[in-house]
Amino acid sequence: MAARGGFSSKIGFIAAAAGSAVGLGNIWKFPYEAGENGGAAFLFVYLACMLVIGFPIMVGEIAIGRAAQKDPYGSYRQLGNRKWGIVGLFGILSGVMILSFYNVVAGWAFGYFYQIIFGNLLEVENFGSYFGAYVSDVSDNMIYSFVFMIFTAIVVIQGVQKGIEKASQILMPILLILLATLIIYSLTLPGALQGAKFYLIPNFSDISLRTIYTAMGQSFFSLSLGMGALITYGSYISKKENIISSAITVTLVDGLVAFMAGLLIFPLVFSQGQAPSAGPGLVFVALPGIFQEMGPIMGRLIGGGFFLLLCFAALTSTISLLEVPVAFIVDEKNWPRKKVVFGLAFLIFLIGIPSMLSVGAVDGLTNFMYYEGSNKSFLDLIEDIFSNIGLPLGGFMLSLFVAFKWKTKRLSEEIAQGNPGYEGSFIQKLVNFSITVICPIILGTIFLITMLTKFLGLDLAFV
Ligand code: TRP
Repeated sequence: MAARGGFSSKIGFIAAAAGSAVGLGNIWKFPYEAGENGGAAFLFVYLACMLVIGFPIMVGEIAIGRAAQKDPYGSYRQLGNRKWGIVGLFGILSGVMILSFYNVVAGWAFGYFYQIIFGNLLEVENFGSYFGAYVSDVSDNMIYSFVFMIFTAIVVIQGVQKGIEKASQILMPILLILLATLIIYSLTLPGALQGAKFYLIPNFSDISLRTIYTAMGQSFFSLSLGMGALITYGSYISKKENIISSAITVTLVDGLVAFMAGLLIFPLVFSQGQAPSAGPGLVFVALPGIFQEMGPIMGRLIGGGFFLLLCFAALTSTISLLEVPVAFIVDEKNWPRKKVVFGLAFLIFLIGIPSMLSVGAVDGLTNFMYYEGSNKSFLDLIEDIFSNIGLPLGGFMLSLFVAFKWKTKRLSEEIAQGNPGYEGSFIQKLVNFSITVICPIILGTIFLITMLTKFLGLDLAFV
């Protein structure tokens, strides 16, 4: 164990896992997906997915990592066999690909921070066209996302304790306070109430198949599940710690931040007369408006502060994404950590370049087709394969692994260390039932349906 890092305390692990969970997924992705999929109806399905599927899978991942004390590939191999190792490998690959586009979006947030504080972003008239022009400007984005990747690499080199824990513990509370303040402000704007209604009062007939698989994918993405990030973090905690209470805290914090982000964005969007279904630009278009109204000085301060915090939230997530392939190579090959970190960071930056070019800069990548009539960007394609499909698939495989190979008995034994009352508890029943019954059935079905609808364009409206 000596060569591997470890978290210094329970709170250190929770901070790092919550830091991994809370990120662009909560503040950028969740609101625009909710906006495209019926608002409150989406929120409802999303919260249900987190509780019934996300939480048990999170417990499973942490327990697997702590039992095996290895990276995801090594863990599946050790507790299972060589073939199961493939599941770990696919997870690591998904992490690499997710980081490649995540870093591009983090670069946008970083650029917005810079342009609000030092540039003239708050003086523009139309934030929609500003955003469009902004993301297709490759030279700037290249720099911002490169710098962002370097920050990520620097923290990862510090190792889990000094870098990851500390940053999360300080920044998370500040983010919550700023969000709460902005929500109060946005709810007082004219027309805001309609936005709150759209977000809070569900119309259950809005729940379509697409709502369900999007919400499911989003719950995995937001909780950092399905690719082994929490197997890796779990491998750094001690047997004294209580996996259940840690997982509950992380799930609650993550859900809360996503909920708050929606409560901030939709009143704003409606009060500015914008459409909630604007897609990935939603946050970047809606938010600057409120900062602009605050006047040049307050706007810069609060707006700059907000995007800076968003960058930090993204950073504690990119750290966890980079840590996974790093742990894999260091564990399996024993190469020096520092070289592995920089090598991988640079490689992943390069892999992200086509995604960066696919939001307006290069037409062939921007208007990409899966099938006749679909219109997606290359970034959408990577996100679909490795995040929207890959993560629930990883969760599906994990549930099969626990149900048929590792067995719930060993899962329970692992969790009971550090949680003596676990055996026989209600939570144990929930976790076991979910992992052995609900997850295989629901995740398996949704996987099939998603493949059919997304890539073949089949109309499954009858289901
Ligand atoms: N959960 C993060 C977010 O919401 C993104 C993220 C970090 C992630 N690590 C991950 C997603 C691992 C999937 C797997 O922004």
